Amino acid sequence: MEKIITPTGIKAIIISNKKSGELPDFLSEKEVDKVRKFHSSIKGYKATPLISLENLAKGLGVSKIFVKDESYRFGLNAFKGVGATYAIARVICEKLGVHIDDVSFDYFKSPEVSEKIKDMVFVTATDGNHGRAVAWAATQLGCKSIVYMPKGSSLIRLQHIKDAGAEAYITDVNYDDAVRLANKKAEEIGGYCVQDTAWEGYEKIPNWICQGYTTIAAEALDQTKLDGVAKPTHIFLQAGVGSFAGGILGYFANVFRDELPITIIVEPENAACIYNSALINDGQPHAVTGDLNTIMAGLACGEPNTVTWKFLRDFAFAYISCPDYVAARGMRVLANPIGNDKKIVSGESGAVGLGLVTLLLEREELKELKDKLRLDENSVILCFSTEGDTDPEQYRKIVYDGKNPSYFE
Ligand SMILES: Cc1ncc(COP(=O)(O)O)c(C=O)c1O
Repeated sequence: MEKIITPTGIKAIIISNKKSGELPDFLSEKEVDKVRKFHSSIKGYKATPLISLENLAKGLGVSKIFVKDESYRFGLNAFKGVGATYAIARVICEKLGVHIDDVSFDYFKSPEVSEKIKDMVFVTATDGNHGRAVAWAATQLGCKSIVYMPKGSSLIRLQHIKDAGAEAYITDVNYDDAVRLANKKAEEIGGYCVQDTAWEGYEKIPNWICQGYTTIAAEALDQTKLDGVAKPTHIFLQAGVGSFAGGILGYFANVFRDELPITIIVEPENAACIYNSALINDGQPHAVTGDLNTIMAGLACGEPNTVTWKFLRDFAFAYISCPDYVAARGMRVLANPIGNDKKIVSGESGAVGLGLVTLLLEREELKELKDKLRLDENSVILCFSTEGDTDPEQYRKIVYDGKNPSYFE
């Protein structure tokens, strides 16, 4: 393990020796095919675009840069709908004693099933995107949802969740305590806590959510193949609790085995719990506490998912902690494409991976890190823009008005 501190505020931990671990069965190709089949049954399902930023790649001296644009997912402006729909469907299947492989999304909407599930209440905590997805999925199925947000949450994100049909509140606690609150509430009312993170004793539902996320990765691989790329060389995955990154990486580990692309986990510096766990390096997940202050609201989580942490530990090549300017830069680069590259509207938590890529490839102060990550002219990079402008006012303040700079101060 090597720790690299750069003068740009970006810090990295690189694991140089070859990594291996137990492959997660629940993220195998066979399982993922089933998940994708279920998602395909949802009205409005469509693979989100994978955009090849050819001019940017050329300008930065690499072979290709792909960005998967999750702002198009189910009209929710973020990727979380794939997790919430799949997990809620599995919870209902369990209640009804049916198997997910035998049903489609419409099955749950049939009058006979609706009658049986109409009193189910789904409870969750969220920085915005997951709560909106849970509310949307529950409402479509005629069920109720209750959503808690951490202190300081965006009012417009709260409104989006209410508009999707949930009873929703901004609490005065941080994200991790809001999760505890949601869990307690679900227990009190006999509801179902549908949380997008696991802890000891609470793993089944978050694992379903994680499985849901794999549809994104499976689509991405099909799409890179259409562009003549069987396998990217580098994958950048941003992490809050690490369910998204762990789900995607667990699936890629199953697909590519010993030939896994170099995968880099990216986090905000004030909420870098995966980086912190890699740094402590005793094999266990470690929390960071406090207000977790960052513009990347979706990544402002202090306690790693205890299941997916293991995949991040076993299969990631590097862990990088980023100041907020990295995300702001990513948002601007994606909003201002070069030549005929396609514009991507990417929010704070969506843009940090691409922001980091551009800095690694451009800045002399990051040359050592770039080399250690083996980025060169042959690199084929895959990033995930996991949200659009989920807080449009903030988005404009950053992209139009320069609220956060694009450089290290
Ligand atoms: C836009 C966005 N990107 C990435 C993430 C990170 O997901 P996870 O918390 O599973 O690491 C989130 C989580 O809320 C998010 O909203």
